[in-house]
Amino acid sequence: MEYSIIAKNLSKSFGSLKAVKAVSFSVKSGEIFAYLGPNGAGKTTTINMLITLAKPTSGTAIVNGFDVLENPNEVRRSIGVVFQEQTLDDDLTATENLLLHAKLYGLRGQESRDLAKSLLELTGLWERRNSRVRTFSGGMRRRLEIARGLLTSPRILFLDEPTIGLDPQSRALIWEKIKEIGKEKDITIFLTSHQMDEVEEFAHRVAIMDLGEIKAIGTP
Ligand SMILES: Nc1ncnc2c1ncn2[C@@H]1O[C@H](COP(=O)(O)OP(=O)(O)OP(=O)(O)O)[C@@H](O)[C@H]1O
Ligand SMILES: [Mg+2]
Repeated sequence: MEYSIIAKNLSKSFGSLKAVKAVSFSVKSGEIFAYLGPNGAGKTTTINMLITLAKPTSGTAIVNGFDVLENPNEVRRSIGVVFQEQTLDDDLTATENLLLHAKLYGLRGQESRDLAKSLLELTGLWERRNSRVRTFSGGMRRRLEIARGLLTSPRILFLDEPTIGLDPQSRALIWEKIKEIGKEKDITIFLTSHQMDEVEEFAHRVAIMDLGEIKAIGTP
């Protein structure tokens, strides 16, 4: 498949507010694609439509070859998501968070334990696997969420502001992991950010969004 995501005039309104205004773009398979824009630009709203959490007011998108309106279940089965807001269980350990998520997706037994191990190693959390998440720093939490997003072996990983609130060192580490994952697992990465410097350094292509519209799209 040449394109992982094709958005066609995707729009979302909340009452009279047009949060996303007929955006069209495509993301090539294997690409790190950044959706850049200030607060309120419509980044999360766009992601929510692509991951089938929000229904477009008009337009549609093809994700991994499936239409978000016609085949939402197939879309969901083929993607991983890291939400803007933290969604880990603080009372569980890193491993338990992953195994619970695996179970919800029908993965069990040795298969899910092996997968959890490889993802904890990939994200640099293996040493802390038995610590409760409540003792984790912001950067460690984010890396655990990325590991969780990869559990179902998605073909696209969506990351909504993966580096928000992190110090420069943790941000660099997250980006290193994102790059590694893109290469090693050959998956497409769609992420949002309002951090121009990091997007310029790491993304293959960037869409710059403001007030619900894409103002520019291309290489950094
Ligand atoms: N459920 C909702 N109901 C009403 N308005 C909403 C809803 N969700 C988002 N909006 C509005 O849509 C616009 C775009 O919001 P969105 O969350 O997509 O922006 P964003 O680019 O992700 O911003 P941020 O960088 O702050 O996360 C904002 O004006 C927001 O207030
Ligand atoms: Mg957002």
